[in-house]
Amino acid sequence: MTTETRLRIAMQKSGRLSDDTQALLKRCGLTLNVTDRRLLAHVANMPIDIMRVRSSDIPGLVMDGVCDLGIVGDNTLEEAALERELMGQKSQYIRTSQLNFGGCRLSIAMPEGFDYQGIKSLDGLRFATTYPQLLNRYAKEQGINVEFCLLKGSVEVAPRVGLSDGICDLVSTGATLEANGLVEVEEIFKSKASLIQTASALCSEKQSILDTLLPRIQGVMKAKE
Ligand code: PRP
Ligand code: MG
Repeated sequence: MTTETRLRIAMQKSGRLSDDTQALLKRCGLTLNVTDRRLLAHVANMPIDIMRVRSSDIPGLVMDGVCDLGIVGDNTLEEAALERELMGQKSQYIRTSQLNFGGCRLSIAMPEGFDYQGIKSLDGLRFATTYPQLLNRYAKEQGINVEFCLLKGSVEVAPRVGLSDGICDLVSTGATLEANGLVEVEEIFKSKASLIQTASALCSEKQSILDTLLPRIQGVMKAKE
């Protein structure tokens, strides 16, 4: 089989979703060795290649058809789609399956002691975030104006060093917020991992690989329920 007919799946190289994603693919019967530094891993027993990238690159790779499938958090997906719409770029994809891992929420948090009286208390304030589009959409829906500064990680440090009034970042256990003296005041987006697919039709070879893979993914998800 030539390279063009191998199904290409994008997954997070390292981070919160990578272990669960790898475990899922293994439980689906894919023999993959991602312990080396190869970023495009050949699956030995199926015509599938796994491309290991930063999670924020996954939506674009799938939307542009570079990868046929991607496993990505809904937060990253929605942020990328909003950003692409704003730039007038292609932002279509198909959500093939909602996965049952990677659960978290995107929330606004303020320093302990901040006198929070409801959403209007946040009007005119500045927030550090990795998700400016999601924050902006929420602020518009709520009828408030916010400023933001973009941080790709360690967002919780921003208020303490005077970079922002508050933050808008992912919360899972809440431990990072607590360790940095922050209190969650508004949840703005709930997220889980999703399997997404390019909006363009797959060739028949790739479609038939997907037709084999998809029931296995659904079976693994069901078994975990
Ligand atoms: C993520 C996220 C939060 C934290 C939430 O950061 O950005 O900071 O995890 O998890 P918790 O509620 O269980 O503490 P990550 O540790 O991935 O690091 P980064 O933001 O520096 O990339
Ligand atoms: Mg963080």
